[in-house]
Amino acid sequence: MQKIISGCILVTAFILTACNNVSKKKSSDIAIVSEQEIENAPSPKNFESTIDNKPTALYILKNGNMQVMVTNYGARIVSIIVPDKNGKPTDVAVGYAAIKPYTEGADTYFGAIVGRYGNRIAKGKFNLDGKTYSLATNDGPNHLHGGKKGFSRQVWDANQTSDSSITLTYISGDGEEGYPGTLTSKVTYTVNNNDRLKIEYAATTTSPTILNLTNHTYFNLNGEGSGTVNNHLFMINATTFTPIDSTFIPIGKLEAVKGTPFDFTTSKSLSATVNDTANRQIKNGKGYDHNFVLNTKGNIHQIAAEVSGDQSGIVMDVYTTQPGLQFYGGNFMDGSHNLKYGKKDDYRTAFCMETQHYPDSPNEPGFPSTVLKPGETFSSETIYAFSAK
Ligand code: GLA
Repeated sequence: MQKIISGCILVTAFILTACNNVSKKKSSDIAIVSEQEIENAPSPKNFESTIDNKPTALYILKNGNMQVMVTNYGARIVSIIVPDKNGKPTDVAVGYAAIKPYTEGADTYFGAIVGRYGNRIAKGKFNLDGKTYSLATNDGPNHLHGGKKGFSRQVWDANQTSDSSITLTYISGDGEEGYPGTLTSKVTYTVNNNDRLKIEYAATTTSPTILNLTNHTYFNLNGEGSGTVNNHLFMINATTFTPIDSTFIPIGKLEAVKGTPFDFTTSKSLSATVNDTANRQIKNGKGYDHNFVLNTKGNIHQIAAEVSGDQSGIVMDVYTTQPGLQFYGGNFMDGSHNLKYGKKDDYRTAFCMETQHYPDSPNEPGFPSTVLKPGETFSSETIYAFSAK
């Protein structure tokens, strides 16, 4: 608790300093912090609650210029503050200022760890060792992000091991949301002094099961709530992707990106192609909402994706051991939620880069396996590395 309080003082000081800097600038400058915004900024007090008989809280990780806020409700990232090209602290993650909105209405998955199976499973059905399992169909005819509560609306046990690292644990019971096996998942967030956020995942099970764990942070590299992300520049190191049907389920084959709106092998903005509904895949995805097959093939030392904010100069490099990346362009954002600095979650004002296995893998024998057996430990790692230019 002491850590949280001293962390809070640090954050407040940080935000106040940012405010002083901002107030001297012209209104054309991108400003993420204003007087009113200070009132709205997340504070540990606003995250203190009891949900499902477990305590929720806000944890602050800090190292060098980077600061990340995490809550144990859904193991969510609430905020990521990094310097922009002028050194101004900028919050590039979408989130709420308090715990309550995270618990209300349909889940937007802001910042959450999604599981047991992140992304979709066709018709909520899969076969494992000769038995058919039925899951909630909470996304049209399909299962999405683990079901009704998934992992994003569970209270995780938190253990902040240092000023810059926290491990969250969630034990999902045998049969929870229809999945077999008691699954113990651990997620560790670590911030280093080079503006890198590392996410480590580990999981074990008591009986064979399937899993696909990812983090669902929505980013706006110009700062939360600062308009469209369509003018950010995107590079994705993938020469193929998994085309989808009109319910977002992969049709099973891989398609080459070359000559299509899905070619991000060299950096480009979304503006020219995101509304190109003559392209069947853009139409089916309502924009970009597709899994890219990473050329990195699990090599975390090779870059998987790079995005830069057109106004802030903030660059985010993605590295991962996972085989795929769901690139989601905020097509379901509708301005109905109030974000932490008083802005709305308007249409396409954030994007997600969810490192993961391909959607519907349990029903696609040709896709890398998502089965976990007792005695095995699933582990994966993703790094979001920030810089500014
Ligand atoms: C994922 C999905 C999207 C959408 C968002 C949450 O990224 O792929 O279709 O459901 O989650 O709104």
